[in-house]
Amino acid sequence: MSLNPQLPTEKRPIYIIGAGGIVNDAHLPAYKIAGFNVRGIFDIVPAKAKATGDKFGIPDTFSTLEEMIARLPANAVLDVAVPGSETIPILKKLPAGSSVLLQKPMGENYKEAGEILALVRKKKLLAAINFQLRYAPYILAAKDLINKGLIGELNDIEINVNVYTPWHLWSFLFTSPRVEILYHSIHYIDLIRNLLGDPKSIYAKTTKHPSMADLASVRSNIIIDYGDMIRANILTNHCHNYGTPKQQSYIKIEGSKGAIKINFGALIDYPRGAADSFEYVVLDDNKEPAWQEMKIEGSWFPHAFIGSMSQLMLAAEGAIDRPDNSAEDCIHTMACVEAAYRSSEEGGVKPCV
Ligand SMILES: NC(=O)c1ccc[n+]([C@@H]2O[C@H](COP(=O)([O-])OP(=O)(O)OC[C@H]3O[C@@H](n4cnc5c(N)ncnc54)[C@H](O)[C@@H]3O)[C@@H](O)[C@H]2O)c1
Repeated sequence: MSLNPQLPTEKRPIYIIGAGGIVNDAHLPAYKIAGFNVRGIFDIVPAKAKATGDKFGIPDTFSTLEEMIARLPANAVLDVAVPGSETIPILKKLPAGSSVLLQKPMGENYKEAGEILALVRKKKLLAAINFQLRYAPYILAAKDLINKGLIGELNDIEINVNVYTPWHLWSFLFTSPRVEILYHSIHYIDLIRNLLGDPKSIYAKTTKHPSMADLASVRSNIIIDYGDMIRANILTNHCHNYGTPKQQSYIKIEGSKGAIKINFGALIDYPRGAADSFEYVVLDDNKEPAWQEMKIEGSWFPHAFIGSMSQLMLAAEGAIDRPDNSAEDCIHTMACVEAAYRSSEEGGVKPCV
């Protein structure tokens, strides 16, 4: 099954800031699939901008941000993919009224997310955040089933990740006071918000690991509280370094009339990955539940990146009022992340004896 996100009519020229891993592995491959028009790239390490520009045939490589800004056409879309700590200084330099897609996280914490939102408002930027799991083909397929009412009212979402993630590949994480929730589970929190809306509260415990003692916490249990009738849980262990047989990662969505289970392979045997699978069941009073598999074209990486950029372009051309992943919306994901860290720091209820 092929489920495409809504695409813009005009393929506005894209100018990329940051030529690191995610730009090479996901942004540019996705934009190639979508036929987007990437015109320029800048990185503080000029050799990285040059290598990426050469690899993807990008016409202009810039050695300073100022040079890129001076050459931006009026309908340009900026695509910022730098470590979270670099986002605010870059935003301050962008021309007022720019259209900009910012890589997640939206700053390093809620305070920075607030500063980003204030800058967006002050400079009247059209800003979206790259929480792209919302637009992964298997999530679009799940939303399609949900919107058609096939699985009924949602009452349970569980995201379970038990993998080995080589965090050492991202050197900036070693100086980051926050790792797992801010850089990874944030996708699942954002997805759950996207499906169920803003929660009442968050309970969480995020934990370090002896083999990754130089990093902040790398495993998390997060309960997203939607009251007495809906359960929404995220469990991640990125330290399962015991071979691949027991590695797993799934998103399970249950409703009053059916359920969906997505095994997503992107994190398995990282960076090699494994195949995804999408299964669902629609209950029929007269029959035993029968799960069916649906073949889905495309995956989280890179295809979902088409959706987050498309939302920005659609808003820029006036086809929608604002991106679904607008900074105004995504600040609520950052608020949930902050609440998760606070919950973890404040600790649980001590058993009294
Ligand atoms: N949405 C996702 O699924 C996803 C996945 C991976 C990474 N990311 C995010 O993307 C960002 C970059 O991650 P990455 O894996 O590409 O990291 P990376 O370290 O591979 O690349 C970062 C790049 O940014 C450049 N850079 C740093 N400061 C800069 C500045 N001020 N101006 C221009 N270039 C600058 C670096 O030289 C480097 O090339 C991070 O914020 C990360 O959280 C998002």
